[in-house]
Amino acid sequence: MTAPAAPAAPKGRLGNGQLRRQVAEYLADHPGPCKTGEIARALARSAGAVGNALTTLAGRAEADLVPGKPIRYQANSATAAAAIAPKAPLPPKPAPAPRPAAAAAPAPVPSPAPKPASPAAAGPVTRPNGQVYQPRALAGMPDVEVLRRLRADSVPALLEGPPGTGKTSLIEAAFGDDLITVAGDGDTTAADLVGEYTQNPDGTFAFIYGPLVRAMQEGKVLFLDDATLISPAVLAVTYPAMDGRREITVKAHKGEVIKAADGFYVVAGHNPGVHGAILTEALSSRFSCQVKVSTDYDLARALKIDPRAIKAARDLAARQASGEIGWAPQLRELLAFAKIARILGEDAAIANLAGIAPAEDADAVAEAVAKAFGRKTVAPLALGRQL
Ligand SMILES: Nc1ncnc2c1ncn2[C@@H]1O[C@H](COP(=O)(O)OP(=O)(O)OP(=O)(O)O)[C@@H](O)[C@H]1O
Ligand SMILES: [Mg+2]
Repeated sequence: MTAPAAPAAPKGRLGNGQLRRQVAEYLADHPGPCKTGEIARALARSAGAVGNALTTLAGRAEADLVPGKPIRYQANSATAAAAIAPKAPLPPKPAPAPRPAAAAAPAPVPSPAPKPASPAAAGPVTRPNGQVYQPRALAGMPDVEVLRRLRADSVPALLEGPPGTGKTSLIEAAFGDDLITVAGDGDTTAADLVGEYTQNPDGTFAFIYGPLVRAMQEGKVLFLDDATLISPAVLAVTYPAMDGRREITVKAHKGEVIKAADGFYVVAGHNPGVHGAILTEALSSRFSCQVKVSTDYDLARALKIDPRAIKAARDLAARQASGEIGWAPQLRELLAFAKIARILGEDAAIANLAGIAPAEDADAVAEAVAKAFGRKTVAPLALGRQL
């Protein structure tokens, strides 16, 4: 490998998926593990943007993440094809706005809002991972369209609902490859959002921008998943980027001021029932649009899930709503039911559905499942004797 060189000046903005194709081409032309920095230098692009492209390629199985450190990727049999054309039709993104030419460019405030992405698209949307998303109704429109409109007018949205109801799926369907996700938890630090100094192989240190800064610079959507698990003080670093100023000062990097490019948007997910999730007033007041997400049982039926499993889930959800029990299977568990039934048969799927319930609700869930499937009793899956 050549000695680290100063990063070349970034070139103009690329079209949707273009950088990903260039990265795929680089990998295909350079057999063996390649580092993000090396590719970024060769393409004269930011390491953050190249890192995202690599993550997406790996997520689509169009490149392989090489096990171990440092993080490296290599081409696989699908990489050359990925260099030529995008694999799946991606959801349309807002019309690209002209990018400020350089650091000296005026702040994009107030920025011309990106145009609404498309006429209301009610048909299925393919997520970047290849899964198909069936849009649901929200405010009289397809949910993906609503989110794109909120982005166009910079209205931060908070999706609130139990695990497995479709929050992440909706956001990925709405924004496709234009998304940078932070999986929030109690250990998330400000450095995890804005970036930190990291040692280069030659011993020097470079400041590597975090997902918040990358999303701001690249005009992307920042998805704060499980945002309410992140400490309020840490979350507060995103607020100046979300309000009228649309800029942040990175204290850890010589007070650098980062201005948000057009298209930058913040959306968050929140599971109210998860231990440690705190929806502070400061957070709630920033997310002007808050949407409740629950399992759509009609969708579950459309996805060909056994109606008896759906009935059990529905009954349990009604009891959960009345405060009688604390848990009910959501769409994720229903999809898992269908999958296990396909692989291991109905009995195993029924037993598993009963077994995944939290201990305190196990009896109620086993009873509801037994009733829906016309069984006397249902026992969780358990290992038996030596065969
Ligand atoms: N509208 C939809 N069309 C098709 N599949 C969907 C839809 N909504 C959700 N799913 C499927 O349901 C499962 C759970 O969805 P998802 O992971 O988005 O839930 P979540 O609310 O983000 O959960 P968590 O809070 O645990 O992150 C996934 O397998 C997803 O593909
Ligand atoms: Mg999720």
